[in-house]
Amino acid sequence: MTVREALAWARAQLEQAGLSDAQREAEILVAMCLSWDRAQLIACPDAPLAVPQRRRYECWVRRRARREPLPYITRRAWFYGLEFTVGRGVLIPRPETEVLVELFLRWAGGTGRSAGIPMLVDAGVGSGAIAIACLQNAPHWLGVGIDRSRRALHIAQINRRKFGLQTRLLLTQGDWLNMVRPGTVDAVLSNPPYVLPDEWDALEPEITRYEPRAALLVPADDPLQPYRRIAQGARRALKPSGLLAFETSPRLAPLLAEYLPRWGFPHPQIQRDYSGAERVVYATKP
Ligand SMILES: C[S@@+](CC[C@H](N)C(=O)[O-])C[C@H]1O[C@@H](n2cnc3c(N)ncnc32)[C@H](O)[C@@H]1O
Repeated sequence: MTVREALAWARAQLEQAGLSDAQREAEILVAMCLSWDRAQLIACPDAPLAVPQRRRYECWVRRRARREPLPYITRRAWFYGLEFTVGRGVLIPRPETEVLVELFLRWAGGTGRSAGIPMLVDAGVGSGAIAIACLQNAPHWLGVGIDRSRRALHIAQINRRKFGLQTRLLLTQGDWLNMVRPGTVDAVLSNPPYVLPDEWDALEPEITRYEPRAALLVPADDPLQPYRRIAQGARRALKPSGLLAFETSPRLAPLLAEYLPRWGFPHPQIQRDYSGAERVVYATKP
């Protein structure tokens, strides 16, 4: 099988599976299988795939045709210009979450922080994307990443090592901010679950069949529950003037902004993402 034949075969399989960008995805899969970049595929369409490469490629294409997300197959995802390891059981970092990182970096750059080394907490750290992107760009900060999922923490540890952050990022299993000591933290960042049960069926099969439900779904009867628990923990854990910033859905953002003052964070603000959707809600502790 040549590169050209491999691309044509995958494209047909992926189109049949209903994927809208079958050609691009086929190119990514062949390129990753060969450890080439995509430009090389154009230069060498007649290069053959060795038998082990071909077997791996066919397996990857079949998985993708069953709508498994590409990042779970290749085990790689890009976030804030950084390449993260991902895998089943951990949420794939999303581009809209970059708004949260940008907001933190703007805030951290603009505050004359108090003496000592500033500390951020990423509540629900998942793959580590938020904490790692922040620490990579704010080199004088330290971080703590908390998750209740062991699997997520395992992937976060891989990423922490990949970016050489073993001494700057502590990863720990826990229930939101329960175990963080009072008055010790400068910023709490979180992308908690925010999909409402009535939104589930409209999501892509890549999400509903493969991504961890516990990382996505909020309780129907109390959709703000994770936010309330994190905000109450942040009220305790943050130093005065500390930042609390959440990623959320456009549906929950106004509600969250309404409730944050009741949980001790007056004057919350909403930041939109690049598509114009209300995405991040943030406030500082008085
Ligand atoms: C939407 S994912 C976000 C993952 C990652 N921060 C990101 O943005 O890609 C939410 C994360 O919160 C974690 N989580 C859910 N409930 C939790 C709890 N009670 N305590 C700690 N982590 C929790 C999930 O395991 C999941 O990793």
